[in-house]
Amino acid sequence: MNKKFLVYSVAAIVITAMVVLSTTGSEREAESPFFKYVGVKSCAATCHKGDTKGNQLEIWQNSKHSKAFITLQSPEADQIAKDKGFTTPAAETPLCLKCHVLGKDIDPEELTDTFDKTEGVQCETCHGPGSEYKKLSIMKDKQQAISNGLIINENGEEFCRSCHNSDSPTFKSFNYDEYWEKIKHSDPSVAK
Ligand code: HEC
Ligand code: HEC
Ligand code: HEC
Repeated sequence: MNKKFLVYSVAAIVITAMVVLSTTGSEREAESPFFKYVGVKSCAATCHKGDTKGNQLEIWQNSKHSKAFITLQSPEADQIAKDKGFTTPAAETPLCLKCHVLGKDIDPEELTDTFDKTEGVQCETCHGPGSEYKKLSIMKDKQQAISNGLIINENGEEFCRSCHNSDSPTFKSFNYDEYWEKIKHSDPSVAK
């Protein structure tokens, strides 16, 4: 093998490898979800708290939704998981996490570093992943916020029943008016 041929071959291999790596890289990017979960602090650090805004953070903190993951860390929860035939602790069982954290299967690619599953049923569980709509410039225009991932559940009851139903091992009943009264958190500054 002459030297020139060797140089060409090595160059060809390197170029092929670069092309392959760069296409799988961009394919991975295209596959990874665009809207990501950023966690309660990102919603409430500066905006959604206090009387003038409608105390969203405070109401949520005082609700059972904020404790929904912690609930899964109890011996009672582990027993419920065991009775259902799971061999993992409740806090690691996908079915339990589905309702006690996001309301859907948890895909690690959709979570940013600030997302914290121990915060249970959180703002973004109900309002959609906030990475793109959280900017004030977008949030102040409701239509723009919606096209950037914000979810407004006009039909609250149907939505609540996606978790408050008999698929829950502890389900007894769900009365929308009574339950909404316990967690309602409208923003008084938003014109209706
Ligand atoms: C992603 C699933 C999910 C959705 C959606 C959801 N919840 Fe819940 N909710 C839970 C879980 C889980 C608990 C129990 C938390 C615990 O006790 O640790 C709970 C508990 C509650 C409680 C406390 C009940 C009690 O025993 O005092 C109220 C009130 C409530 N939810 C209201 C609502 C309303 C109203 C909606 C719709 C606007 C809603 N929830 C939507 C999962 C959900
Ligand atoms: C379909 C959604 C859903 C699934 C799946 C689910 N939960 Fe829940 N869980 C709820 C809701 C909603 C509540 C609140 C009870 C209520 O008020 O209806 C709750 C409450 C609880 C409670 C508190 C009990 C109480 O009486 O306050 C425990 C413990 C619990 N769940 C454990 C689990 C475990 C363990 C799993 C997995 C095996 C699981 N849950 C799966 C929705 C769900
Ligand atoms: C259990 C589901 C649930 C959780 C958790 C939740 N919300 Fe909501 N939120 C709703 C529903 C349903 C409404 C009424 C319809 C709508 O505007 O989406 C609402 C309304 C609002 C509004 C009022 C919008 C308006 O036009 O008046 C704001 C602001 C808001 N939520 C912010 C938050 C923040 C911030 C958190 C977390 C600290 C949070 N929400 C947690 C379900 C939820």
